[in-house]
Amino acid sequence: MNRQKPIVIGHRGASGEAPENTIASFALALEQGAEGIELDVQITNDGEIVVCHDLTLDRTTNGSGLICEKSWEELKSLDAGFWFSEAFTGERIPHLRQVYDLIPRGHLINVEIKHAYEGRMEKALLAFIEEMGRWEDTVISSFDHKVIHRIKQAQPQAKVGLLYAANLIDHAAYASQLGVDVYSLHPYHHGIGQEDIIAAAAAGLAIYPYTVNEVADYKRLIAAGVTGIITDYPARLRNLLD
Ligand code: G3P
Ligand code: MG
Repeated sequence: MNRQKPIVIGHRGASGEAPENTIASFALALEQGAEGIELDVQITNDGEIVVCHDLTLDRTTNGSGLICEKSWEELKSLDAGFWFSEAFTGERIPHLRQVYDLIPRGHLINVEIKHAYEGRMEKALLAFIEEMGRWEDTVISSFDHKVIHRIKQAQPQAKVGLLYAANLIDHAAYASQLGVDVYSLHPYHHGIGQEDIIAAAAAGLAIYPYTVNEVADYKRLIAAGVTGIITDYPARLRNLLD
């Protein structure tokens, strides 16, 4: 069978080797040959979209408290790198615009929505992607499938993906009963088997399993025919594919 090689998608950048969701991490993923990146977004109290996995600042910065209660001005000088290693001291929480400016056109940017913020996140994000003119490059995913549904209804140009950890009875059928056009599945990699992957690909879905770091798992997913692999170690996957 003549299958395309999966693309390498750096999870929170190259988060195995740099502080997650920072410019240093995304730049390293690009350097290591990633064709895409995954990142997580939160919104500030003045409506700016920032890149951070958690709703709070405590784990990955020298700040504390909820991001949605701070302004961009309050966040932009926090240190988001020191906790990973001294070499990354001074890394900042990126504004989403800084990441888009870094990632070349033609690369995949998988924006994961962690929280709906009463609908404010999807509104801000759709306006942002429109302003950047990056519909083609962007896939918006979330574990909250109602957000995904609303986004696709509000903006038919958006590519939307379903994130989930359950081993569904029929992955492609789940996507097709959503009532909107789903672009991609983002399953937990142990929650989807070869037959499910083949069926989903046949249904026209892209398949981007997360978060895959072991070579044996890369091999299993490549053989099954996934579209891309979300990994903390882009160089490891790149070496295997090349
Ligand atoms: O988007 C895939 C993956 O990032 C989902 O889980 O917790 O790493 O954001 P998490
Ligand atoms: Mg994520």
